[in-house]
Amino acid sequence: MTSTGLFITLEGGDGSGKSTQAELLSTWLTDAGHTVVRTREPGGTELGVELREIVLHRRGHIAPRAEALIYAADRAHHIATKVRPAIERGEIVIQDRYLDSSVAYQGAGRVLDPVEIRNLSLWAAEGFMPDLTILLDLDESIGRERLDEARTKYDRLEAEAHDFHARVRAGYLALAEAEPDRFLVLSATGSIESIAAQVRARVEALLAA
Ligand code: ADP
Ligand code: TYD
Repeated sequence: MTSTGLFITLEGGDGSGKSTQAELLSTWLTDAGHTVVRTREPGGTELGVELREIVLHRRGHIAPRAEALIYAADRAHHIATKVRPAIERGEIVIQDRYLDSSVAYQGAGRVLDPVEIRNLSLWAAEGFMPDLTILLDLDESIGRERLDEARTKYDRLEAEAHDFHARVRAGYLALAEAEPDRFLVLSATGSIESIAAQVRARVEALLAA
């Protein structure tokens, strides 16, 4: 089978099911003969692992603009050294979180200007945009319940208050509304298998196009 380079990102609140769906999609595409790179932000490279540790687990305050710049630095290195080369080789990149996370969390969540945050990421990633972004939309209290069951410790962002996560969700939905062709918005309350089937249908259409 001839591979077509594709860049697919998954977005949504914490606990919305991004990793679960990324894994299922990755297995399905690999079984169909594609070369798949599964990666994430922050932390998709060696440098990124160090930046992830700082931005998610450093004790004490990080100023919102400094936080935005750390995510952008992770992104710049990740896209330049890992993602863009894979796409140029014709591989399929399935990535947990990308620049929409920055617009939703640092823009809507931390209340920085969303246009400036988006432009910062576009500069960092030299304008590289996904072919498809799957947004798993979830009420933040349900995401919180899922995380409560799955872990005992929260990172800096997960530990933010309910209204922060409500702004993040609204920020995501505004992004999807502004770019309906790039986004596939799915309710994250469906069953894992029904969400996976909807994702597969969209990716199949993209591969056939
Ligand atoms: P994320 O990567 O978005 O933080 P995960 O894929 O790690 O989310 O899922 C968080 C938790 O919710 C896990 O325990 C996972 O098994 C569970 N989960 C994922 N998708 C669903 C779903 N559609 N319905 C119910 N629980 C789910
Ligand atoms: P992630 O590892 O995806 O956490 P989870 O699996 O729980 O969803 O992401 C780590 C956190 O970083 C998450 O709370 C969202 C946040 N984040 C931002 O605030 N801005 C960004 O640009 C990115 C990529 C992530």
